[in-house]
Amino acid sequence: MKKDFLWGGALSNVQAEGGYLEDGKGLNVYDNLTVTPEKGIEPQFCKTNIAVDHYHHWQEDIDLMAEMGFKAYRFSIVWSRINPLGDEEEPNEKGLAFYERMVDYCLSKNIEPVVSLVHFDMPLHLMEEYNGFLNKKVIEFYVSHVRHIVNRLKGKVKYYITYNEINLGVFMPELVAGVRLPENMSQEQLFAQLTINLQIAHAKAVLAIKNIDPEAKVGGMIGHTPFYAATCKPEDVLASQFQNQMHNYLALDIMCFGRLPHYFLQFMKNRNINVEYSESEKENIYNASRLLDYIAFSYYQSAITSSFNDIQDINKQEDAILYDKRGYKNPYCPANEWGWQIDANGLRYSLIDFYSRYHKPLFIVENGIGIDEKLINGKVYDDERIIYYQKHITAMKEAIEHDGIDVIGYLAWSPIDFLSSHKEIRKRYGFIYVNRDYKDLKDLKRYRKKSFYWYQKVIHSNGTNL
Ligand code: BG6
Repeated sequence: MKKDFLWGGALSNVQAEGGYLEDGKGLNVYDNLTVTPEKGIEPQFCKTNIAVDHYHHWQEDIDLMAEMGFKAYRFSIVWSRINPLGDEEEPNEKGLAFYERMVDYCLSKNIEPVVSLVHFDMPLHLMEEYNGFLNKKVIEFYVSHVRHIVNRLKGKVKYYITYNEINLGVFMPELVAGVRLPENMSQEQLFAQLTINLQIAHAKAVLAIKNIDPEAKVGGMIGHTPFYAATCKPEDVLASQFQNQMHNYLALDIMCFGRLPHYFLQFMKNRNINVEYSESEKENIYNASRLLDYIAFSYYQSAITSSFNDIQDINKQEDAILYDKRGYKNPYCPANEWGWQIDANGLRYSLIDFYSRYHKPLFIVENGIGIDEKLINGKVYDDERIIYYQKHITAMKEAIEHDGIDVIGYLAWSPIDFLSSHKEIRKRYGFIYVNRDYKDLKDLKRYRKKSFYWYQKVIHSNGTNL
């Protein structure tokens, strides 16, 4: 492993901060989200007003990360803290100052800050008034938000991520892109136009960052789930190929190659979909692709895909595959309580696959497991988490050392417990336990889990001692 390998962790601030409307923060799409339960799990949704109170505990939390030996910490700057409404011209000074303090504090602890510029935190007003990224005005508001941040943090932050899991905007439009399907629009039309709009936003963000701070390194990010064919039946293999294209490669192909790939153009042609996409926007996308420094991705699990026996029409077959809700179980992979299938080799497979396709440095910016845990006498023995990480880090090391893949760093999800994307505290991801449960906020005290000491040892040995 390289000496400067970036070991660390990542957090989504909107899921951890609380500090609801403090210091001028506005409501955002996550605050407002009505969540649907994950398959088979009785929901226990928490409010976002306190979350795990990271807004008031951030210093203590970063101290604990430093104690683990973090070399890098990825966090997100909550958009509605910088622009409470989103369409105002002036940023909220208190919001900017808060994140600048966080960056300065990380640097003082020799932790490289990795900053995500949007992560489920679009100001609610932009969704309600404009329908989020489906409206191109919102792209301009986003770029202005990016400029405010980079102007402020110039020279301090080296790594930016333009957009958390940009590819999922079309699958979870409300949370990821602040979009609701308009009455007069088909789902396929939304898929096409929103894909393009998000890519324009990403491209303009890359250009803005490089313009303000040419030394900064900018990455595009996807939420990655590799899809395997459910069987070796050729139709299933075709189905998984299509699923991988539209789910995983599409966003990265545009970001890295600077144009819409043929399979996406064909997808639109087959369905007579017209999109708004100007020559200057095409140019932005091309120019940004030349400046992209690395590819970032989250990886939790793999999934499997099959064709639909009863659908003969090819377009309908593809549309059904794209939004397939049949949850298959991979017989070779165990799963956590939420059905997320554990597949460490899928991480190695993804690293090889992306590097062969894009030849760019890769950054694993989320990887971890959600577990329902209890604090007993001040202790949490999370051996299941340790095993998950042992396997995934081993797979990553094989990709680096045996397969020759260029990996910048590994950021575990997550240093501390927080609310899941479904607003659950029960689905815990942290090396650090936060003492609250669904209804009872308790004392919000932080406790080091067993995995805390284990990860500390991993970082200290540069990945040798697993
Ligand atoms: C990623 C998101 O998709 O998955 C995170 O970037 C999220 O914000 C993580 O928390 C885990 O998913 P979940 O639904 O268990 O919170």
